[in-house]
Amino acid sequence: MFGGTGFLGRRIVKCVAQNGFAVRAVSRHPNRVRPQGGNKGIEPVEADILDASSVASAITGSYAVVNAVSLYVEREHQTFERTHVGAAADLAAAALACNADRLIHISGIGSDPRSHSKYVSARGRGEAAVASAFSGALIVRPAIMTGPDDAFLTTIIRLIRGLPLYPLFGRGQTRLQPVYVEDVAEAVARLIEEPGRKGPLELEFGGPRIYTYEGLVRQIGLEVGKSIRAVPVPFSAWKVGASIAEFLPAPPITRNQVELISEDNVAANGLTCFDELGIRPRSVEEVVRLIEQGS
Ligand SMILES: NC(=O)c1ccc[n+]([C@@H]2O[C@H](COP(=O)([O-])OP(=O)(O)OC[C@H]3O[C@@H](n4cnc5c(N)ncnc54)[C@H](OP(=O)(O)O)[C@@H]3O)[C@@H](O)[C@H]2O)c1
Repeated sequence: MFGGTGFLGRRIVKCVAQNGFAVRAVSRHPNRVRPQGGNKGIEPVEADILDASSVASAITGSYAVVNAVSLYVEREHQTFERTHVGAAADLAAAALACNADRLIHISGIGSDPRSHSKYVSARGRGEAAVASAFSGALIVRPAIMTGPDDAFLTTIIRLIRGLPLYPLFGRGQTRLQPVYVEDVAEAVARLIEEPGRKGPLELEFGGPRIYTYEGLVRQIGLEVGKSIRAVPVPFSAWKVGASIAEFLPAPPITRNQVELISEDNVAANGLTCFDELGIRPRSVEEVVRLIEQGS
């Protein structure tokens, strides 16, 4: 499980381990594997997806390989091209070479090689490179994921509570279909267990409802009991702010996030693949309540 310490990856690790598999939670900082139910069956493993020899030893003998590595900001040798295209394809080829039965590549809704966004285009080309390196690879495309430790809903709640005016992305009309991260993790765990896939190899996962960004903010405002005074802020202004924020070690917003939120982020035809896996995706309102209970 590459990216096994991340927001999504560590939840996949937990679900897969609960299903009785032995799981290697792979990342560059394996000490960040969090205790979850005693970590039974979970082995922290250090490897860098950009380093072929560490990749090969991390996946030797694996039945399934999952890539949930993220890169949201390019830094020196870590580029979108290297991580999301080259290294993703190399991992797929290495999985084939070690006779892994299945490969699951986590991408994102909207990935498109023709996009003018460097990030979105790399994600699209990465999907194609992975599919050609490992025939039968499953491409999992989640919508924006939410959960108690997310960077999305928690930020919206904080801004609703802390600001007299709520700054929208543009006019707030981008359509979104936020999905609970635990539901996506459960879906990936079920895909690992599926005996043999007859359905499509590309699976999109969105939540039960589609909102405009403004509609979502207002709905969250209702949940937390605050009325919203929303103000439109042009995307160009967000981009300037994000390019300055990217100099910070943990930027609160990045240019590619601004680009992502400027395009609709909903599953094709609004359909998601939870039904076929027997999962009822949780609503934004349920997740907001979970976040509120934790705070
Ligand atoms: N979060 C969302 O809302 C969302 C929505 C749609 C799609 N996705 C996609 O879902 C996937 C997981 O996203 P996430 O939000 O869970 O990411 P995340 O929390 O940033 O976690 C990323 C994981 O990748 C590991 N990693 C990063 N660079 C690595 C490298 N060079 N070699 C090995 N491991 C590396 C990180 O650990 P170390 O840093 O310790 O190596 C960490 O375990 C990504 O493909 C992302 O684009 C996310």
